[in-house]
Amino acid sequence: MDQMTAGSRRQMHGIWSGRWTFILAATGSAVGLGNIWKFPYIAGENGGGAFVLVYLLCIAVIGVPVMIAEVLLGRRARKSPIYAMSDLAREAKASRLWGLIGWGGALAGFLILTFYSVIAGWALAYIGKMWQGEFVHAAPETVSNIFNTLLADKVALIQWHSVFMLMTVGVVAAGVTKGLGVAVRILMPLLFALLLVLLWYSSQYGDFARGFHFLFNFDFSKLTWNSVLIALGHAFFTLSLGMGAIMAYGAYMPSRADISKTVITVAFLDTLVALVAGMAIFPIVFAASIEPSAGPGLLFVSLPVAFGNMDGGLMFGCVFFVLVSIAAWSSSISLVEPVVAWMVESGRFNRVGAISLVGVGAWIMGLGTVLSFNDWSNFKPFFGMTFFDFLDFLTANIMLPLGGLLIAVFVGWKMARADAHKEIAETSDLQFDIWLLMVRWISPLAVAAVFVFLLWDKLLSGWWQLLLAAILG
Ligand code: PHE
Repeated sequence: MDQMTAGSRRQMHGIWSGRWTFILAATGSAVGLGNIWKFPYIAGENGGGAFVLVYLLCIAVIGVPVMIAEVLLGRRARKSPIYAMSDLAREAKASRLWGLIGWGGALAGFLILTFYSVIAGWALAYIGKMWQGEFVHAAPETVSNIFNTLLADKVALIQWHSVFMLMTVGVVAAGVTKGLGVAVRILMPLLFALLLVLLWYSSQYGDFARGFHFLFNFDFSKLTWNSVLIALGHAFFTLSLGMGAIMAYGAYMPSRADISKTVITVAFLDTLVALVAGMAIFPIVFAASIEPSAGPGLLFVSLPVAFGNMDGGLMFGCVFFVLVSIAAWSSSISLVEPVVAWMVESGRFNRVGAISLVGVGAWIMGLGTVLSFNDWSNFKPFFGMTFFDFLDFLTANIMLPLGGLLIAVFVGWKMARADAHKEIAETSDLQFDIWLLMVRWISPLAVAAVFVFLLWDKLLSGWWQLLLAAILG
């Protein structure tokens, strides 16, 4: 095994046709509902600027090094994350328990898909609503009624959830080069073009200055440990890290492609899209005098109000929801690729069988998210959260950062230094050492620190005070 040179193992699913296909695929995975739906509303809920700054820091200091680690692991093993981690653990003479990174990741991807598909379904539904002019000259109450009616309509939600799930299954079934590769080469340039159109529109018709101020004015008084955890979790979520999607895509990366440069390009594009989306959305929201802290409905209530009352808003609103759907589509395929690739490698399934099974499973579990917005909206047995809120919290804020922490520790402490350097041979010794320092110390400690502080904040500080009070009597 140690005779292996960079990316020299055989790959049964195919190899991307070049470095750029990898970049488009990884960017397609990274850019999704996280950038366009989630980022604006969590930035809104957490006060804007200061939150954005913490998020950017997390991307640079934790996200990029961990992403390099994931691609490197995937390409070295040339297998799906579950087998990759157990192979690499064996190669590093480390415990087989490291294989759990692959399992945990596959589970996280599956769980994310279950709710991702439901939210993406809203975007699909909104393309039609925009097109039919439902929002033309609509008052905020009208739009919020339309949104609430959609959320209450289980049948409609299930229909759109099904359509989106079928779109995902269709692409994954067609395979890595013919399905995923082709899809991202068409969808990603389209997405960038649409986003620029929207940015132009918002600069013409929105309150650009206020939008800018909101996103980039660093007001630290609004920052809490909880919002730091959300920023950290979001850095993992938006870069698709900590669950093996990027590792799986790394396994299809050409051997000669330069990993570090590629990863930096992907992280840069993802961040750019989030910020540009924010600059396309907030000015429009402000122009319509709407509060930015509207929560998950921000995109589906405030924006249609704004579009409905602007020149050309009908068409641009339509464009916007097409964009959201495309972004979600190129991400959802990466959520299932790790599980599907593993099922195929196990020899028990072909690709079509594997994705069909996973698709049906995720579809069924997605019904829980559908119900979270109507019948179960007051059913909050999970730490006071609905089924959907809990899944979102568990995956984005716990599973992904934990997965990322373990990946960093494995690469930094368990894998032979020479093996890691062989995969990123393009880096100079100094660059390599800096990266190693990040994955050995900075990323794991930062993630651990946020977990500990949050635990303290949420649970222990209360007990501690009680204890102190009891002692001091
Ligand atoms: N990065 C995607 C987004 O921002 C979500 C995602 C997470 C996709 C994890 C794949 C893996 O929407």
